[in-house]
Formats: sequence, structure tokens, C-alpha cells
Amino acid sequence: MPRIAYVNGRYVPHRDATVHIEDRGYQFADGVYEVVALLKGKMIDKARHLDRLERSLEALSLDIPLSRRAMEFVLGQVVRRNRIANGLIYIQVTRGVAPRNHAFPKNAKPSFVVTVRPIPSFDKQAVLAGVKVITAPDIRWKRCDIKTISLLPNAMLKQKAIEAGGFETWMTDDDGYITEGTASNAWIVTKAGELRTRKLGPNILSGITRAAVVDIAKRQGLKLDEHSFTKDDVLDAQEAFLTSATSFVKPVTHIDGQPIGDGKAGDLTTRLLEWYAEFLETGQVENG
Ligand code: PDD
Repeated sequence: MPRIAYVNGRYVPHRDATVHIEDRGYQFADGVYEVVALLKGKMIDKARHLDRLERSLEALSLDIPLSRRAMEFVLGQVVRRNRIANGLIYIQVTRGVAPRNHAFPKNAKPSFVVTVRPIPSFDKQAVLAGVKVITAPDIRWKRCDIKTISLLPNAMLKQKAIEAGGFETWMTDDDGYITEGTASNAWIVTKAGELRTRKLGPNILSGITRAAVVDIAKRQGLKLDEHSFTKDDVLDAQEAFLTSATSFVKPVTHIDGQPIGDGKAGDLTTRLLEWYAEFLETGQVENG
């Protein structure tokens, strides 16, 4: 069955899905995106993702191309037409096609693209193997709260992690505090059993998975401190993990080649992973 993409009002075969060379996304990275996990046919945290998309669009003074209802309809159609139960939905909005000029064009129509691709179903054992991260200076701009398609620094630093045999780079600000990963939020569990993740602000993305884990932590009565931490804090921590729509909750076992805790997935991380899996399954988490 051919893959189907949605491009500016039309459902087209994926291989024929194109936008114009003067699309401002192509020339200026002038656009925003979302990645939504689809599990057993259900879009995970759809409302929060669409809220964030609207916030990103507003931050760039980009017109919202469709009403919320129309957008949800398109997402549903793309999923249905691709017959995918477990996948990643990609949504991208750019300022549209206009002769190249830095200033915003007056009459360009935003380009709106939706694709979906399959992913393997959730494998808890594989996730529990954990991943390694490296650190590197955060070389991004000062509005990382906007989910822009301008991802070159993220791509460069992710590549650096891969070349070092790792999975992710945890980026550090000028004061040595970790901001986040190139495509995920960063967390530790301190020796006192406290969960720590950086406070929301302009230098990190307000992760939807982060928000779900914050909800779970509150519900479970865990100690949660939304506070920055350094690489030394990570090495002093009991456990570490990262969160994203594509990674869910993923244990982090090493940083720059050094083990975190005992170098294995931690107990609280494993429990959070189970609670998050329960949330994915049922949309809610039982106390306990
Ligand atoms: N990335 N921080 C950054 C810089 C990200 O790009 C992402 C997500 C996150 C986690 O956000 P969420 O939990 O909403 O996925 C944090 C997506 C998955 C990507 O670019 O593919």
C-alpha cells in the first residue's frame, strides 16, 4: 500500500509529495512542527501537541492554517489512509511560498504538511537497556521554547553523540547547566530520590512527554524539583533518563563515558516507564 501524505489540502502518494523551492521553510527554516506518537491507533496527548503547535505559530506570527477541528480531521485522515496503528505523525507548517526576501511576505499562504510513518510497537525490555549521552555546549538560539524546524544545531549535536557511540547529546548553557537533549528533555533522580528536570523557559522546549511525567510524578506523590542541574549533578545522581514523543521515558546509563549510579536503568526510572506505559495504554495512571 503506498504511503499517503497531506500537502496543502490534498492527500497525495508520499513519493509525489512536494512543496515549491521558494517555500520559506526550505529557504529560511521559517516554520514549526510537531511529532505525535500514535499507539494502537490512538494519538498520544494530541490536544497538548496541538496547543503547543498553536503557541509556536503564534510566536512566529504565522497564521494558523486550519481550525483545530479541521486539523484533527486531517490527522485522522492521514492515519486512516496509511492504515498505521503504531507510528509517528509529523506535522509541519511554514510561512509558505514567496520570492526570497527576509521580511515576511504579505500574502503568502502557509504550507501545511502531515505525514505518518510506522514504528515498532513499544518494547519495554529494549528500552530498559538504556542509552548513553554525551555533553556539548548548547549552540542554539534564545527561543528554544518555539518548536521551529530550524534544527541544524540539534542535528549537528545529535550526530556528535552518534559518532561517540551514544544516543543523545545533553547540551549545556554558559553556566554549565544542562538545558536539554537535541530532541528530548533531560531528567535525573538524585540520591535523595528527588526527580529533577529543568524549569520551563526560553532555553528549552516544553516537552509534552515531560508534562505527562510531571503529572505522573505529582499523582504518585514523588518529590519533584523543576530545577537546572550540571554534569557533576548527573554523575552524583542515582538515575537519569530522557523523555520525548519518540523515546517515551528512556533510561540514561552513562554520560561522557562515565556511569550514572550503577550504570543501569534505575528503579524509579523503571517505575516511571511502567506508569507512562500505563498512561499510553489507558490515558490515565492509577495511584500506587
Ligand atoms: N523532539 N526537546 C527538544 C529540543 C525536542 O526536539 C523534543 C522533541 C523534546 C521532547 O518533546 P516531546 O516530549 O513533546 O516530544 C524536547 C521531537 C520528538 C523531534 O524533533 O523528533
